[in-house]
Amino acid sequence: MGHYHIEAKPGDIAELVLLPGDPLRAKFIADTFLEDAFCYNQVRGMYGYTGTYKGKRVSVQGSGMGMPSAGIYYHELINVYGAKKLVRVGSCGSLQEHVKLYDVIIGISAASNSKMIERRFFGHTYAPTASFELAEKAVHLAREMGVTYHVGSLLSSDFFYDETGEDVFRFAEYGVLGVEMEAAELLTLAAKFKVQALAICTVSDSLVTSEQTTSEEREKSFTNMMEIALNL
Ligand code: HPA
Repeated sequence: MGHYHIEAKPGDIAELVLLPGDPLRAKFIADTFLEDAFCYNQVRGMYGYTGTYKGKRVSVQGSGMGMPSAGIYYHELINVYGAKKLVRVGSCGSLQEHVKLYDVIIGISAASNSKMIERRFFGHTYAPTASFELAEKAVHLAREMGVTYHVGSLLSSDFFYDETGEDVFRFAEYGVLGVEMEAAELLTLAAKFKVQALAICTVSDSLVTSEQTTSEEREKSFTNMMEIALNL
């Protein structure tokens, strides 16, 4: 399998990889939390960094938005660079009244409206599921840190601007906590290639109340999610 989208050298990437959608957030995480970080990827501006956190090697790689983009990075990280623990750190829209702005969702499963998941299973459904070990650890860390968190499922949508209108609220009726755009493909690829994965999201907006966070507040509150992920 080619490695067309990441130009890292063998051994450049750690077994634990944090995966924000935004490559500049990858840079921000490296600058803020990692020691001795170096940039191993600039292809398409999709920055990736490796450094150390509390003495442990960690990488952080931008994935782009949506499963077609993110899936390319997940695939190469696992199959070319030997990533073993892949943790999406992103934002999501709340689908539940009790899930408030800045709360952290520990996504243990991901429903999807994506054709990617459907096609892979010949039109049947599949239940993308997180690593229980990572999820359990994330819950312990969140509790220790006193973070407001929820454990449950995410909806990985192909739409940000969804023309189908009420569609996401069907998932909400069935308990899905938040909508984002990458988790289902991450959990599915991790299952296929026998590595561990988890999706952690901070609530950046609410589809229930239409509230939104400001970018300044987002930066601060995302720290909780990053610290959970870095300690996995
Ligand atoms: N939809 C999809 N992805 C998102 C959203 C949303 O409302 N908010 C943050 N990521």
